[in-house]
Amino acid sequence: MARIIGTGSYLPRSIVTNKEMEKYVDTTDEWIVTRTGIKERHMSQSDENTGDLAYEAAARALKNAGIGAKELSYILVATTTPQSLVPNTSCYVQARLGAVNASCLDLNAACTGFIYGLEVAEALLNLPDMGFILVIGAEVLTKITDFEDRSTCVLFGDGAGAAVLTKGDGIKGIITGSDGTKAACLNTGTFPVSNVLTGEKPFEHLVHMDGKEVYKFAVNILPEAMKAAVARGNGNIHELDHIIPHQANIRIIEAASKRLDIPMEKFFINIEKTGNTSAASIAIALDEMNQNHALRNGDRIALVGFGGGLTYGAVYLEWNM
Ligand code: UT7
Repeated sequence: MARIIGTGSYLPRSIVTNKEMEKYVDTTDEWIVTRTGIKERHMSQSDENTGDLAYEAAARALKNAGIGAKELSYILVATTTPQSLVPNTSCYVQARLGAVNASCLDLNAACTGFIYGLEVAEALLNLPDMGFILVIGAEVLTKITDFEDRSTCVLFGDGAGAAVLTKGDGIKGIITGSDGTKAACLNTGTFPVSNVLTGEKPFEHLVHMDGKEVYKFAVNILPEAMKAAVARGNGNIHELDHIIPHQANIRIIEAASKRLDIPMEKFFINIEKTGNTSAASIAIALDEMNQNHALRNGDRIALVGFGGGLTYGAVYLEWNM
C-alpha cells in the first residue's frame, strides 16, 4: 500500500533543437519529427551532473509534498547514467538535501527505472519505521551519447523527475519484467577484466541501440504491461483517465493507442520538448501533469515503461494526493 504525495522535476536550461542537431550529423528536423515526434531536448552542461539534476527534482518534490528532507527514510535514484560508480547518485542527493535519516540506493533498469523504483518503494514501505520514500529518475544521457551516430544521438535528452511516496491507498497494481537475452539491442560497452594487465581497450561508455529491435519489443510490451498492471489492480483499461507512457517515440505510443483501442487524448505526451530521458521520462511527465493541475483525486492512471535490458513495467494507481 503506497501513494504518491508530491512530485517534482528539473530540465537543464540548455535546449538543443533538431535544427542544431543538423550541425552534428546528417539528419533533418523533418526526419526526426516524423520518425520520433521529438523537436528539441535539454542538455546538461559540463558542470551539471546526474546528482545535480536529481537534487533539483527532489527538492521540488519535497516542497510539493510538504515534507522536510529529514523525514525521508529512503532515497532511490533510478539511473543509467550515475554521477559516479561510487558513491551512488542517491548519496549525492542525500548530502545536498540534508536527508540525514535516509538510506540511499541507486537502481538501474534503463528506461523502466522509475517504474522499478516505485515497485521497490512500495515493498520498502511494508518494513517497520518507513516514513517517506523519495523515488527519482535522473539521467544525463547526452554524456553517453555518440554524437557521430545519427540513429541514436537525435533521440536522447537529459532531465530528472521525482515522487515522494508514503503508506496509503494509491498504487493498485505494479508489474515488472525483463528479458536479458535481448541485452545486445541497447547497451554500452562492458568493463575490461583488467585494463592495466591485459592492455584491453578502456571502458567504452557510449550507448548503442538496434532501434528496430527495440521498437518491435516496445509496441508489443507497452500494451501488454499496461493491461497486466491494471488487471492486477482489478481495474479496467477503458476506464483509465490518463496513461503516462515512457517518451521514446510518438509512433510507439500511437501503436499502443490503436492496439488498446484507447484514444490518443488519454496518453500524455511531452516527447517533443524532452526527447527520450530514459529513467527520468515518466517521472518528468507525471510531474508536468501534476503541476498543470491535470490530475484530480480519484483519477485512474497507468504509468508504463520499457527499455534497455530489455526491461518493462507498468503501474496502475488512483491519484490520491
Ligand atoms: O528508450 C529506450 C527504448 N528505445 C526506443 O524505444 C527506440 C525504439 N526505436 C525507434 O524509436 C526507431 O527505431 C528509431 C527512431 C530509432 C529509428 O526509426 P526507424 O523508422 O526504425 O528508422 P530506421 O532505423 O529503419 O532507419 C530508416 C532510415 C535509414 O536509412 P536507409 O537505410 O533507409 O537509407 C537510416 O539510415 O533512416 C536513416 N536514419 C536517419 N536519417 C536521418 C537513421 N537515423 C536518421 C536520422 N536522420 N537521425
